[in-house]
Amino acid sequence: MNPLAAQLNEQISQCNPHVLEMLSDLGQKLFFPKGILSQSAEAKEKAHKFNATIGIATEDGGPMHLACIQDKLSAFDPKDIYPYAPPAGKPELRKLWVEKMRKENPSLAGKVISNPVLTNALTHGLAIVADMFMDAGDHVIMPDMMWGNYNLGFGVRRGAAIKKFNTFTPEGGFDTDAFKTQLQATAGEKGKAIVVLNFPNNPSGYAPTEAEADALVAAIQEVAEGGCNIVVMTDDAYFGLYYEDDSMKESIFGKLANLNERVLAIKLDGATKEEFVWGFRVGFITFANGTGTGSEDLLIALEKKVMGIIRGTISNVPHPSQTFVIEALKHPEFDAQKQQKFLVLKGRANKVKEVLDSGKYDDAWEYYPFNAGYFMCLKMKNVDAEKLRIHLLDQYGVGGISIGATDYRVAFSCIAEGDIQELFDLIYQAAKDLE
Ligand SMILES: Cc1ncc(COP(=O)(O)O)c(C=O)c1O
Repeated sequence: MNPLAAQLNEQISQCNPHVLEMLSDLGQKLFFPKGILSQSAEAKEKAHKFNATIGIATEDGGPMHLACIQDKLSAFDPKDIYPYAPPAGKPELRKLWVEKMRKENPSLAGKVISNPVLTNALTHGLAIVADMFMDAGDHVIMPDMMWGNYNLGFGVRRGAAIKKFNTFTPEGGFDTDAFKTQLQATAGEKGKAIVVLNFPNNPSGYAPTEAEADALVAAIQEVAEGGCNIVVMTDDAYFGLYYEDDSMKESIFGKLANLNERVLAIKLDGATKEEFVWGFRVGFITFANGTGTGSEDLLIALEKKVMGIIRGTISNVPHPSQTFVIEALKHPEFDAQKQQKFLVLKGRANKVKEVLDSGKYDDAWEYYPFNAGYFMCLKMKNVDAEKLRIHLLDQYGVGGISIGATDYRVAFSCIAEGDIQELFDLIYQAAKDLE
């Protein structure tokens, strides 16, 4: 093992040996090399005469660049666009994001959390967590209504075993008992569990009530107290899009941070959906464990391991996107503009409920609970969801996603409010054709 990796492991172990146990084989070997990047960083501070360290080209005291690109980006200073961004991301963006996170999640008050590290958006952050904490055969627990890409990222890439629990109770709440049963089973079998909590959820569009979130956290605490190490990832891709009074309005990460020394909470979030910049690829990974002596050193060691895997895979996250998001976060109109888009999406979610609650489709489907995010799912009563999807495409020019035998996912996030009635009328018509 590289001595730098051994040093980081020692730093982690001294504070909390359980976190060292949680790391995968690869996670234990990771370190951030004292190579070109750290020598360049040193030179940036001290090389007043000539700095011949960095792998970019310079001219006239700034990064070399082409006019045909800069002419289109003239609002931005070349230094904020062309050079490599630091491996953990632009410090200003990391600072702005942690401030935003604390402001929007009052339950984080007084809690010890790491500085967020930039990722190439959430998928990349999830892959980093998978690399750092999953070995072949580890159990990853998630509801059976889940984002399909977890299969590739955790199952195929890392060989983890995906353990699903039932998502909703017959009464229409989140099935916290099913979660607890699965967590206990994994604890008994493995002594280590990895949990994925994705709220607002894709595909159901559900965010839990405060009481449901408390029940999930209580189950995690109880199982951790019983001696199981638990890595809990919160996939907060749709954070902030909460449309109804009864759901929680914060990330469950706030309740998980500093919960128990055997619980490592990892927040994955980003600008992707929150700021309507899907193609920018700006995301963050933030850790929280305990509050004891050395807990900040432990978080720094984990940040270094993340930087190591970033250096060894994508090297760093695109610089222009980071600059664009910084500008947005500092813009005086940012909150007002975001709120306006939120209201558009909320209007669509409410319209979907109004249309579905008319009763006119009740013989064809029921719908799963939804109160947040981009999506909702129909549960078809009489037709196969995949046959319905193909028939809708071929005969009506309507696209949706089939999931399993019964579920058909509708992204109301991309249907104008005025078109929602017609959309569901067409889905109903297609279902009737097939019956
Ligand atoms: C639950 C969930 N997590 C993560 C992602 C991916 O986000 P990103 O585009 O930031 O990688 C998505 C995108 O559809 C998602 O639905």
